[in-house]
Amino acid sequence: MPASHKFSHKHLIDIKSLSPEDIEFILEIAEKYVTKNRSKNKSTDILKGKTLMNLFFENSTRTRISFELAAKRMGADVINFSTESSSTKKGETLLDTVLTINAMHPDYIVIRHGESGAAEMVAKKANCSVINAGDGTLNHPTQALLDALTIKRRLGGFKGITVTICGDIKHSRVARSNIDLLSKMGAIVRVAAPEFLLPKDEKVEGVEIFNDFEKALDGADIVMMLRLQRERMDVPTLPIESSYYKLYGLDRNKLEIAKKNAFVMHPGPINRGVEIDSEIADDMNKSLILEQVEMGVAVRQAILEILS
Ligand code: CP
Repeated sequence: MPASHKFSHKHLIDIKSLSPEDIEFILEIAEKYVTKNRSKNKSTDILKGKTLMNLFFENSTRTRISFELAAKRMGADVINFSTESSSTKKGETLLDTVLTINAMHPDYIVIRHGESGAAEMVAKKANCSVINAGDGTLNHPTQALLDALTIKRRLGGFKGITVTICGDIKHSRVARSNIDLLSKMGAIVRVAAPEFLLPKDEKVEGVEIFNDFEKALDGADIVMMLRLQRERMDVPTLPIESSYYKLYGLDRNKLEIAKKNAFVMHPGPINRGVEIDSEIADDMNKSLILEQVEMGVAVRQAILEILS
C-alpha cells in the first residue's frame, strides 16, 4: 500500500535491489506526477533548497533533460556537468570528480557513465542519494521504471503479459533492467537477437531466448525494440544494416504476428530503417515511444520525491 510503504533505499542503482512493492510504490507516486504534468500548473516546491548534480559522462537527450525538468518542476536547483568542459579533460578521474562534487553538498547525484558498476562505486563515496542514469551495459533502472509505468497504464499490470525485447541484447542496459523488472512483476519476457547480439557469459534467468524474431513475436503484448549499440561493439561483430533489418527490423508485416492489440516500445534514440520502420514508429495507435518519454519525467519526479 503506497501511502504506508517503507522505501528503505538511499540510492537507486539497479532494479535487482527493489522489491515488487518498491516498484509499485514508485509507479503509484509517478502516476500523481503524470496528472500534474498534464495540468496547467506543473510546479511544486517539494524539493526547494535541494540541489541535483547531473553527471553525464555519456551522451543523453531523454534521461538528462527529464531529470533536469523533473527536479526543476519540484523546485530544486540543478547543475549540469559536461565532460567536454570539465576537468576530466585534464586527467581527473571519476573518483576524484565525485569526491569534488560531493564536497559541495549536493542532495542528489544522477550519474551516467560508460563503465559498468560506476554508479555503485559513486554511491559508496557520496554522502547524498545517487541515481543511476545508465552504467555501461549493466543497469538503466529509471528506464525500466518508466517503461513499466507505460505498460501498466496501457495493459493494467504485468502478470502473465508477454513482452518481446528485440535487438542488441548483449550491449543493452535497458534490456537487463527491463528483464529484471518485468520478470520480478510476473511478466513473460522473451528476447530475440542473432547469436552474436546475445550475452554469452551470463545467465538470462527466466527469459525465453529466440534467434527467430518472428517466432518471438507470436502472442506478444508488447514489442520492445532496441537499437544496435555500435559504440559498444567490436568492429568485426557489426551487422550489415540491410540484412539485420530484414530479419530483426520491425515493420507492419512482422508486427501483425504479435497480438492484435500489441503495442510497440523503444527506449530511444531510434534508428529508422535499422531496427524499426518509420511507419510503425510513428503509428499513434501502436507506438508508445513518445509516451515513454512523457512517463520518464513523472517516474524521475517520483524517484526524487521518494529519495528526498
Ligand atoms: N533512453 C535513453 O536512455 O535515452 P537517452 O540516451 O537519450 O538518455
